[in-house]
Amino acid sequence: MALAPSESLEWSLPVPSVQELAIQKLDKVPLRYVRDDLDQTTPSNPSLRVPLIDMNRLVNPEFHEKELQKLHFACQEWGVFQIINHGVSDESLSKMRQQVQEFFDLPLQEKKRWAQKPGSLEGYGQAFVTSEEQKLEWNDMIFLKTLPLQDRSLNFWPKNPQEFRKTLESYSEDMRNVAVSIVRFITMGLGLEAQKFCDTFKEGTYEIRMNCYPPCPEPERVIGLNPHADISGITLLLECGDTPGLQVLKDEHWVNVEPVNGAIVVNLGNIMEIISNGNYEAPDHRAVVNNSKQRMSIVTFCYPNPSVDIGPAEKLIKSGSPPVYKTLTNAEYFHSFFNRKLEVSFIDSLKI
Ligand code: OGA
Ligand code: NI
Repeated sequence: MALAPSESLEWSLPVPSVQELAIQKLDKVPLRYVRDDLDQTTPSNPSLRVPLIDMNRLVNPEFHEKELQKLHFACQEWGVFQIINHGVSDESLSKMRQQVQEFFDLPLQEKKRWAQKPGSLEGYGQAFVTSEEQKLEWNDMIFLKTLPLQDRSLNFWPKNPQEFRKTLESYSEDMRNVAVSIVRFITMGLGLEAQKFCDTFKEGTYEIRMNCYPPCPEPERVIGLNPHADISGITLLLECGDTPGLQVLKDEHWVNVEPVNGAIVVNLGNIMEIISNGNYEAPDHRAVVNNSKQRMSIVTFCYPNPSVDIGPAEKLIKSGSPPVYKTLTNAEYFHSFFNRKLEVSFIDSLKI
């Protein structure tokens, strides 16, 4: 989600493939990637760990209350946590990772069959590149809308590797199930009518971004993905291996999110921040790269059904505190995002 000077952010210019750059074994990164403007020096605290939530404990009456408290704390203090026992089989996760790996392993010309087209963010390429001067991220990606079915643009869905489409279809259903169950507990933690909110995610909108961060000769001079908060309700991130790279900003320090075998990383997006009336915040996060190993991640952005207005939950307003955010229709929310003034942070522009 790079910051770019343009009238609308809903399109992207083609830029070189970072994988192709990485193959050239350069000593130095091209100037367009050098980010001496970014504060890379903020030390991350290596002893801090993102909270780990066990979903088996959330559904077990014996441990429910304690784990729910832990979840509430995680949302309040971090806005990000990892979940285990989320109900998706290791086999499904591995299959998805395998397909994504095979896709990025294809020759460039083959991947380009699914390249982004002007006017659309979907497809293979880089997101939000809108000027020739803009600094670039050390990242190749493919972005696809996966649910509901009628939102799919199959012309961007790779047919190669052969199992890609089928695997992505079933993976997006798995992620919807995870989103529905974790949203239920997140809203329960807020003291809200949990069923109502998780129902809106049952009929929600889902988008998947598959990221590839090749090794980089000067990792400390580039950024894999610029710092940003997600505009989703929640985001589910699956690591493809054990190479770390995701960092989350906590108390003004970047904290590494260490991959946990079989876990899914959950982070809150702006919509959840708004629903919670600021009790929970969507954390800033970014991806850094390293000089030896390629890293891949599979990121699912989960949104409530577009018929639902986006605003602070009534119950949280009635109980005393005034609304911090405006209530917008879904269309207004996205319109504000894609047509925002870049000097103002998106979430701040939604504050009353
Ligand atoms: C994203 C994102 C982080 C990562 O795609 O929005 O935050 O580690 N990705 O890939
Ligand atoms: Ni993100």
